[in-house]
Amino acid sequence: MRVFKGEVTSLPPDKSISHRAALIGSLSEGITEITNFSGGFDNQSTLSVLKNLGIVLREEKIEGLYSHRIRKVIIESKGLWGLLPPTTQLMCNNSGSTMRMLAGILAAQPFTSKLIGDNSLMKRPMQRVADPLRMMGVDITLSPSGTAPIRINGTKDLKPIEYRLPVPSAQVKSLVTFAALHANGESKIIESIRSRDHTELMLGLETFEQEGERVIVVPGKTRIAAKPFYIPADPSAACFIVALGLLAHGSEIMIRDVCLNPTRGAFFNILKDAGADLSIENLRIIGGERIGDILVRNHFDMEPLLITDPQLIAIAIDEIPMLAVLSAFATGQFELHNAAELRTKESDRIAALVINFQRLGFNCEQYPDGFIVKEYKKPHSGTVVIDSFDDHRIAMSFAIASKATGNAFHITDTDVIGVSFPNFFEVLDTLEN
Ligand code: S3P
Repeated sequence: MRVFKGEVTSLPPDKSISHRAALIGSLSEGITEITNFSGGFDNQSTLSVLKNLGIVLREEKIEGLYSHRIRKVIIESKGLWGLLPPTTQLMCNNSGSTMRMLAGILAAQPFTSKLIGDNSLMKRPMQRVADPLRMMGVDITLSPSGTAPIRINGTKDLKPIEYRLPVPSAQVKSLVTFAALHANGESKIIESIRSRDHTELMLGLETFEQEGERVIVVPGKTRIAAKPFYIPADPSAACFIVALGLLAHGSEIMIRDVCLNPTRGAFFNILKDAGADLSIENLRIIGGERIGDILVRNHFDMEPLLITDPQLIAIAIDEIPMLAVLSAFATGQFELHNAAELRTKESDRIAALVINFQRLGFNCEQYPDGFIVKEYKKPHSGTVVIDSFDDHRIAMSFAIASKATGNAFHITDTDVIGVSFPNFFEVLDTLEN
């Protein structure tokens, strides 16, 4: 058995907050200085698309172990309508956040643009992007199956909107918010199930509760003054290290400076409720975000996870693959319901998890909105091939199980991990005793 001990100070900066800082910077008036920007491929896609739209930005890179973090990104911009028509189609690669959130900004620009992505992104649903933007008066076209390419004929004459989110999605909430910032009046965005709230926090928008729902108020034609942003470590990356510490006997790991925004921290609470030995230290607020250090110690008697609460699922959505793998390996069982959204991520994560669990000898069954791992049927022999399905979180979840249990799985296309956690294997190496 391998033991993992030590302190992690080199997690990638948060992917969601990095995207938003760059996008908000490009809509602000003045110079936006972003400290500790993520060097992951997805965030690089946002920067390269912004450059293609005429945004002037400078990156101060760091070499060596910390090269996945960009010390500073400095963006010079002219306000809400400071973007220029792109010279080519806008390639978002694997990044759904780039494509969807940028669509909200492009909807308000007085030019035509076309958003494309890699094979995975070109299959993901974009009707949820087109629907609210059409209600605001934008001419937008998708493929016949409701996917990218997204063609947007933007307009400066955007109608304000009152929009109740049909699915809990922070990307859709953010794209409507970005479009609404440019609209001819006040908009209201209503969510019955909460999703991550970084956009509202970073823009300082008014929010209130009404009959159990949350309302976000976006004043139209709002000038945004440039302000500095600091990006804490990504909780969705921390989750893999937490799982490693819980799975590998004798392990004890301290993870520093992690974003602990309550709309991101559900994995932590789910694990604590299941009996995991986790604690938070040094809790503080920076730039409106809760940040702290996570101490994880190996725990042997974890309860199997049963996840069914739609609200919990919405705020643990990116951590579910790791939670499923952790529960299956620690207890032989796992059960998930009400999580159909997982089928629309970088891969169909329900199918991807079930196929790989079956290859490893687990007895599983999938249904439209979830799956169950019932038991460990037979020990696998030889090297099992795990298909990452070109999905960074599927690759990392099984890589953690492989490291913690000492079973060598062959994981296809581990390069995809660079989408969110380019130094993943280096961090694991520094912890291995
Ligand atoms: C994200 C929102 C979530 C999440 C994605 C990042 C964001 O997607 O899965 O990795 O930064 O807003 P949805 O908005 O589709 O739920």
